[in-house]
Amino acid sequence: MDILKVLLILFLPVLVVYAKNDCSESYCPKNKFPIRFPFYLENQHPQNCGYPGFNLKCNSQGYTVLNLPFSGEFLVRTIRYSNPEIKLFDADNCLARRLMNLNLSSSPFEPYVIVNYTILSCPSEYPLTFRSLVVDCLSNDTTDLLAFYDGSDYEKYMPGCNVTARNLSIASNDLKYSDLFGLSLTWNVPNCTACEAKFELCGFENYSTSKEIRCFGRPKSGSSEGQPMAKVIALSVAIPISLLLLLIFGISLRIYCNKRREASS
Ligand SMILES: *[C@@H]1O[C@H](CO)[C@@H](O)[C@H](O)[C@H]1NC(C)=O
Ligand SMILES: *[C@@H]1O[C@H](CO)[C@@H](O)[C@H](O)[C@H]1NC(C)=O
Ligand SMILES: *[C@@H]1O[C@H](CO)[C@@H](O)[C@H](O)[C@H]1NC(C)=O
Ligand SMILES: *[C@@H]1O[C@H](CO)[C@@H](O)[C@H](O)[C@H]1NC(C)=O
Ligand SMILES: *[C@@H]1O[C@H](CO)[C@@H](O)[C@H](O)[C@H]1NC(C)=O
Ligand SMILES: *[C@@H]1O[C@H](CO)[C@@H](O)[C@H](O)[C@H]1NC(C)=O
Ligand SMILES: *[C@@H]1O[C@H](CO)[C@@H](O)[C@H](O)[C@H]1NC(C)=O
Repeated sequence: MDILKVLLILFLPVLVVYAKNDCSESYCPKNKFPIRFPFYLENQHPQNCGYPGFNLKCNSQGYTVLNLPFSGEFLVRTIRYSNPEIKLFDADNCLARRLMNLNLSSSPFEPYVIVNYTILSCPSEYPLTFRSLVVDCLSNDTTDLLAFYDGSDYEKYMPGCNVTARNLSIASNDLKYSDLFGLSLTWNVPNCTACEAKFELCGFENYSTSKEIRCFGRPKSGSSEGQPMAKVIALSVAIPISLLLLLIFGISLRIYCNKRREASS
């Protein structure tokens, strides 16, 4: 029976590749959330499967990655399609550093929250009453970096520390624990909430003419609606392989039976 396994292993990837070559939902191996319009997977979906700026990648470890134009790559923890939200993390576990330099120009996303902070740097031997404000991943052996909400005036009571930024608008309401909560972004365009509310798929009306979107019924499994070409290809590969496997199974069964007959006689 080993030959069956070998054949399956050889041909299964072919089947999978053909079946996925369309705009259907996709996943990165290590993440459970689906990737669909307006997002698309750069190496798996054609560009017309998603909106500009919504291109995602699976990194070499199999995690979903979003590249923001002036801010670099972030790991994607979740995507929520109804009431749009994408939650991002820093691969190096120092999201605070990324947040302090976040620049969302030329990206379709905007932050869920914006909070103004005052950033203070204190020598590490400073007798801190506000240990809870220290952003650990931005501090080192000589300097502690503290972030507090603007409007609180702690710095008045901390001579010897320097204000490094005031009214710094940051897309997080808890900079110190941002690695835990992540960076939440949302988007207004395209607005697929109506489609999502109806459990329908959202997509371009006609990609070659405009960026207009509309809702599409989900293809019923088994019907050839939706992505006929990909299905035809998948079937045209799957049917011959199934027949071939059946044939091989038959032959091995015959050989096995013959051997048993010989052994018993
Ligand atoms: C974002 O980065 C671009 C390119 O470096 C720059 O032109 C733009 O001014 C930046 N925007 C902000 C808000 O800093
Ligand atoms: C604060 O600023 C002063 C003068 O610029 C500098 O000498 C000192 O090292 C700074 N302290 C910290 C903790 O950054
Ligand atoms: C510690 O961090 C401060 C600023 O946050 C930096 O100026 C300093 O060079 C750092 N020191 C070391 C030893 O990395
Ligand atoms: C910070 O924002 C407050 C308003 O919330 C304003 O009164 C103050 O002048 C701002 N400071 C700076 C340095 O921009
Ligand atoms: C945040 O800071 C900006 C200036 O950087 C100021 O215009 C704005 O009013 C501040 N927001 C709040 C809520 O204080
Ligand atoms: C998206 O569309 C829905 C209705 O279709 C509307 O209620 C909502 O306000 C829109 N959202 C945005 C951000 O434009
Ligand atoms: C999209 O628009 C082009 C140009 O008007 C037209 O030729 C094509 O048939 C349209 N495609 C669909 C699927 O409606």
